[in-house]
Amino acid sequence: MKGILEGKIGIITGALDENSIAWKVAEQCHAQGARFILSNAPVALRMGKINELAEQCNTEVVSADASVESDWENLFHHAMNKYGGKVDFVLHSIGMSPNVRKGRHYTDLNYDWFLKSLDISALSFHKMLQTAQKLDAISEWGSVLALSYIAAQRTFPDYNDMAEAKALLESIARSYGYHYGVAKKVRINTISQSPTRTTAGTGVGKFDIFFDYANRMSPLGNASADDCAKFCAVMFSDFARMITMQNIYHDGGFSSVGISASVVDNFK
Ligand SMILES: NC(=O)c1ccc[n+]([C@@H]2O[C@H](COP(=O)([O-])OP(=O)(O)OC[C@H]3O[C@@H](n4cnc5c(N)ncnc54)[C@H](O)[C@@H]3O)[C@@H](O)[C@H]2O)c1
Repeated sequence: MKGILEGKIGIITGALDENSIAWKVAEQCHAQGARFILSNAPVALRMGKINELAEQCNTEVVSADASVESDWENLFHHAMNKYGGKVDFVLHSIGMSPNVRKGRHYTDLNYDWFLKSLDISALSFHKMLQTAQKLDAISEWGSVLALSYIAAQRTFPDYNDMAEAKALLESIARSYGYHYGVAKKVRINTISQSPTRTTAGTGVGKFDIFFDYANRMSPLGNASADDCAKFCAVMFSDFARMITMQNIYHDGGFSSVGISASVVDNFK
């Protein structure tokens, strides 16, 4: 399928390197005819990798720390000035937990870091949406997505305080989805993605076991970042016009399986 985002304008956050889910989303949106601005935190921009993506997608990168409201304001202003109008889609692909990074156990959390996890990984979604609405920066029937994980619903001990961050993220999609839907027909959803080999993903303890277990449990196997990108493009398109306030599992069936033959065999 080609061109389902022809004429659409967007903002894509969170592309750090070629493994990032956001990187694949940008490539797919570009292939589908969209024009968009890329954004990431100042520290990620210093890595420089994102400039390669910008060149490939014929666009530019705007620095924004997701926890800073004025950075969101600047980002939306920049996009509207560049393209001469409102944006049609936004991807929030941002997650970070200092407790995970620094190996703090869930029963021994540093609460300043916990607040930081929530701020960067979840509250930033509200900041993004509230800023957009105040600036009236998203077109009617626009589509906003954030990426989540099933640890919002089920316990995965090593996912640590990111579980709370994802629960909050998904709740914000529902709550803000109501308000933005009524006001401007803007749809807001989260996609709950399979474990994926990225910088953020592999930072979670015992990631390889996590990955293998999910792969064995899922009838279709783990969903790749490329498949996630294709799904995001559909969600941004007019083919998903009436979907809002949902958390959609993009996980090869993992979320509906109790146990699989492959996992049973592994225990034999
Ligand atoms: N990889 C997985 O297994 C997996 C599974 C489900 C959901 N997700 C979610 O997908 C999203 C993207 O992660 P990814 O797996 O592509 O990893 P990634 O490391 O490539 O992307 C995470 C991004 O968050 C950005 N970020 C961190 N702090 C920021 C800040 N203060 N301001 C702006 N940006 C900031 C990083 O620079 C990076 O680009 C995250 O929300 C993650 O939780 C990942």
